[in-house]
This record gives sequence, C-alpha cells and structure tokens, in this order.
Amino acid sequence: MNILITAGPTREALDPVRYLTNRSSGKMGYALASAGVHFGHRVTLISGPTNLDVPINVDYVQVETAQEMFEATRVYIQKAEAAIFAAAVADYRPALFAEEKIKKTGETLTLELVRTTDILGSARSTFGFEGVLVGFAAETENLEANARGKLERKGCDLVVANDVSQSGIGFDSDHNEVLLVYPDRVEPLPLDTKDHLAHFILEFIKDLHIRKG
Ligand code: CTP
Repeated sequence: MNILITAGPTREALDPVRYLTNRSSGKMGYALASAGVHFGHRVTLISGPTNLDVPINVDYVQVETAQEMFEATRVYIQKAEAAIFAAAVADYRPALFAEEKIKKTGETLTLELVRTTDILGSARSTFGFEGVLVGFAAETENLEANARGKLERKGCDLVVANDVSQSGIGFDSDHNEVLLVYPDRVEPLPLDTKDHLAHFILEFIKDLHIRKG
C-alpha cells in the first residue's frame, strides 16, 4: 500500500522570533511511519517540526505551518491508498504576521487568530480522496461521542481517539491508550507503547483497505 501520514505539531509564526505551537511530539505518527515501512508499505511522512529521527526508507516531507501541511497533503494524497492524519495541526493561526519583532507596549496584548484549513476535513471533499481515511482525536471529555462526531464530519473510516486528560499517556509520552472508533463499532485497545499500537493500527488499516476492495 501507498500510505500518507501527517505527524507532529505545526508552528504558526507571530513575528520573526515567536510562534504558536502545541505539545505534540510526533511520536505516534513516526511510529506509524516506521511500522508502515516494516510491513513493506511505501510511506510518505509529512511532518511538522519534531526532535525525532526520520524513520529509514520513508519519503519525508518537512513542513512548518498548517498551510504548508495542507499544500503537501494535497499533492501526496493523490497517490495514496491510505491516509493517516496523526498531526496536531493548529486550529488557528495569527491573523497577521509582524515583519518586525513585536515590542512590548501595554500591560496586555490581544492577538487575533484566524482558522486554519482542516486538512483531514478536506480529504474527501476537496482532495477527492477515496482510500482508507484515518483521523486522530485528542479529547479531554466525552471521548467516544466527540470522536464519532469527527469520524462522521470528516468522512473517516476510523478515528483513533485518546483521552489527553490522563497523565502519562498521549502527548509526548512513549505510551498511549486508544479507542478505535469505526462507523459501526468501537474497539478499545489496552495501554501499550506507541510502537506496538502503530503495528496494530496498521493491521486494522490493511483490513479496511482489503474490505474497500
Ligand atoms: N486536523 C487536520 N487539520 C486541521 C485540524 C485537524 O488535518 N486543521 C486533523 C488532525 O490531524 C486529526 C483530527 O483532524 O486527525 C483532529 O481533529 P480536531 O482538530 O480535534 O477536530 P475538530 O473537529 O476541529 O475538533 P475540535 O472541536 O475538538 O477542535
């Protein structure tokens, strides 16, 4: 299979020295990329900035902003049979980029943010992608219901959901405990390393690919 994976955080610049980002380490996406290569798939990894080593034998596309990740995905999804959106894409970016460093003036500073494009949400509608579509959902409450909402809104075959309010798993951890949410069922996976989970998730994606014919 030809698999596209997005991973890591994005960085949205405010001025030449500052940016908005989030706590994503990229570990889950990179583990999926390594597992994909291990299973003999052709993997394109579109990644925001991380401290991780690039897995061997992946086609690596480095990006910084949500817009750059959107543009790269638009190109590489065309040849993909499965697309896994593990990136923690910024939902908002600064409305303006200040060409010069923002100087401190008043006691408070208000930033105006504007929505970024939903890359996963564009896969079916804008990119015309018909392959296996997998999203991730990081939630602090109503895990299953929120994940199912995303699955339906974004036209996914599977959403991998995790509860980020639990300490020691998820963001920046080597471990995770996820709930697999399908259109017709849910399947909890026990706490495990991200490497093991990546192997399981890829097996499930292969099944979905076979069923799609
Ligand atoms: N995602 C994306 N592009 C964005 C935002 C999110 O591709 N601009 C993808 C993530 O990679 C992940 C899923 O969408 O697979 C997570 O969705 P999320 O941002 O949590 O979904 P929303 O429906 O925007 O939910 P929320 O209201 O919780 O922000």
